[in-house]
Amino acid sequence: MQFQGKTGLVLGVANKRSIAWAIAERLAAGGARLAFTYQGERIEKNVRELAAQVDSPLVTACDVRSDDDVVRVFGEAGAAFDGGLDLVVHSVAFAAAEDLEGRFTDTPRDRFWLALDVSAYSLVACARAAEPLLEARGGGSIVTMMMGVAKAALDSSVKYLAWDLGQKNIRVNAISAGPVRTLSARSIAGFPTMEAIVEERAPLHRHIDANDVGAAAAYLLSDDARNVTGTTLYVDSGYHAMGM
Ligand SMILES: NC(=O)c1ccc[n+]([C@@H]2O[C@H](COP(=O)([O-])OP(=O)(O)OC[C@H]3O[C@@H](n4cnc5c(N)ncnc54)[C@H](O)[C@@H]3O)[C@@H](O)[C@H]2O)c1
Repeated sequence: MQFQGKTGLVLGVANKRSIAWAIAERLAAGGARLAFTYQGERIEKNVRELAAQVDSPLVTACDVRSDDDVVRVFGEAGAAFDGGLDLVVHSVAFAAAEDLEGRFTDTPRDRFWLALDVSAYSLVACARAAEPLLEARGGGSIVTMMMGVAKAALDSSVKYLAWDLGQKNIRVNAISAGPVRTLSARSIAGFPTMEAIVEERAPLHRHIDANDVGAAAAYLLSDDARNVTGTTLYVDSGYHAMGM
């Protein structure tokens, strides 16, 4: 029961295939009490049903494009967990389907910023809102998921946040995952090709699944990783190590 007595907020569950849900299941199995956010009424029912499976005390709406939403949600989590929080899972990303199909060159400015706003800036907003709650517990851990076009911004934000928050014993890390069949993945044209390439070229010649990411996130969020911050852990069957 590695997470006994710990509390966490999980952003990014859409359904049972979501990477965020695989992480949440791990944390809950380890004894964590978890709050969840959902984006939009369309997925509210899914998230409420899943959250009930782990006896969640809080399920609340959050659109990470809204600073008001982010501040409110962390306030609600603080209220649900006696003013403190130990763990934050940021597993949120968005890019318009048309920009995942066509030429990157054709991405219009507004949709480029939208992708960066939801997928990268939201980590900064969440970290800021989480800081006092994590500090109240003597420190804590934030984990985020890398996302295509926002990867460089996230990579660098993780490092800057790790520096800012490290003095409060708050750790910030990222996971870079190989392809996993989730709701978001469905809108990526060429996803089956990506899977085939991993199988052919990754050193381990096999796919990962959401549970692999759940295990990696649980490690980064646990006290076992107490001296790990500002880093990206690759869960991709070694694909990132191949230069050809
Ligand atoms: N599935 C993959 O192959 C894969 C690979 C590498 C990284 N990732 C990353 O994993 C993370 C989770 O994605 P997933 O694959 O589990 O898909 P998913 O569709 O299950 O999760 C994405 C979540 O982002 C949320 N979201 C989108 N816009 C939002 C907004 N404005 N406000 C709040 N929430 C919003 C959605 O509601 C959804 O819950 C993403 O960061 C993604 O880039 C996925």
